[in-house]
Amino acid sequence: MSKPLKTISTPKDWTLDSWQQKTALQQAKYDDPAALTDALERLAKLPPLVSSLEILSLKKQLAEAQAGKRFLLQGGDCAEVFDECESSIIANRLKVLLQMSLVLLHGMQMPVVRIGRFAGQYAKPRSADLETRDDVSLPSYRGDLVNDPAFTPEARRPDPYRLIRAYARSAMTMNFVRALIDGGFADLHHPEYWDLGWVEHSPQADKFHRIAEAIGDSVSFMETITGQMPGSTRRVDFFTSHEALHLHYEQALTRQVPHQWGWFNLSTHFPWIGMRTAGAEGAHLEMFRGIRNPIGVKVGPGMSSDWLKSLIRTLNPDDEPGRLVLIHRLSADQIEDKLPPLIEATRATGSPVLWICDPMHGNTEKTANGYKTRRFSNIQSELEQAIDIHAACGSRLGGVHLELTGENVTECIGGARELNEHDLQRAYKTTVDPRLNYEQALELSMLIAEKHRSLKQ
Ligand code: PEP
Ligand code: CO
Repeated sequence: MSKPLKTISTPKDWTLDSWQQKTALQQAKYDDPAALTDALERLAKLPPLVSSLEILSLKKQLAEAQAGKRFLLQGGDCAEVFDECESSIIANRLKVLLQMSLVLLHGMQMPVVRIGRFAGQYAKPRSADLETRDDVSLPSYRGDLVNDPAFTPEARRPDPYRLIRAYARSAMTMNFVRALIDGGFADLHHPEYWDLGWVEHSPQADKFHRIAEAIGDSVSFMETITGQMPGSTRRVDFFTSHEALHLHYEQALTRQVPHQWGWFNLSTHFPWIGMRTAGAEGAHLEMFRGIRNPIGVKVGPGMSSDWLKSLIRTLNPDDEPGRLVLIHRLSADQIEDKLPPLIEATRATGSPVLWICDPMHGNTEKTANGYKTRRFSNIQSELEQAIDIHAACGSRLGGVHLELTGENVTECIGGARELNEHDLQRAYKTTVDPRLNYEQALELSMLIAEKHRSLKQ
């Protein structure tokens, strides 16, 4: 007999502010409580950024990905910053994500769920509360949601009214993204409009050219079949995500809506819980167990099997499909040891999850000349190992989570143009972690598609 369907409802002992009874790590410390209350009251009245129907539609797509019918591409900046809420930066980031998704769709022969790390990725966890330079200690930069990166007491003072500015930037970004996907982006489906100058520099140039040609042929074929004008195309789905770190901000945008039961975080479609705040007894798990959005959780090398199991029970007690995405970020060196027991522990719960790999955060290093960087070869290696390990364990890697930009930055070493340590100073722009640039991101998508193809053969 099949298991009876459980009735899913908001946990009885959960309230919108029950997280405040728990320990909340990585929160900003404001020195003016009245100003914080004022900012939060204003925020709570502002309209939502996304709708409950969009959230439920994403959950359905994630359930399909869990069933092996879709692949998830999640990517964007490590940290969005207010000054870069610019049309060209937003459009270029969307462009590279869309192009990567076409490469993946074509290579894997399955639809891709597209989720941007944008329109709200303004809060950052830090390893220390204070940063010290030449005997001066100031609060660490915690993302533009909280303070400013300049090293002065004024800039680093957490300012609650930044919450409203971040909300407004998120809304502007969202608005422009919606306009672009509703019509302005059709040409991007044709690889003849892509920037493929880097391909010549790769030892795999022939293969990459063949991939681009095959995508072009498929797009033309589809246009012929559906009778659409060349270059015009169906609207694509795009969802948003950010690290749900600042719990007062998240609470202010968590609402009930007409005709739906329960609570939705309407600041984003897909909030995720970072590695540093995923404690089983912590405030973050408490906040997010009570809402209906799909949730991501980062899984680092320090996570034990028991911890992972308890986290799955807390966030998805009803085993709801599409609810939980586990984002492992174990490093190229450790994934072989660490991943198999975590896959086994998850399977033992019997609860559905989508496994995706973040090959960025375990592979950060510092160069001799002081730049925080990541090697393309390590990123590629962690991803390829992830695909193989999941397959060997009877599981499946269902997606990737990447830090990338559509700009021509030089933050990660390697890739077809073989960027080296000395190239980093040329265009190093990130305020927190190093991102793949346009070319490196597109190259990585081709390598992932090829790896999947080789696995199938
Ligand atoms: C991040 O995704 O930017 C991040 C801080 O990741 P993690 O929680 O995995 O360290
Ligand atoms: Co990061």
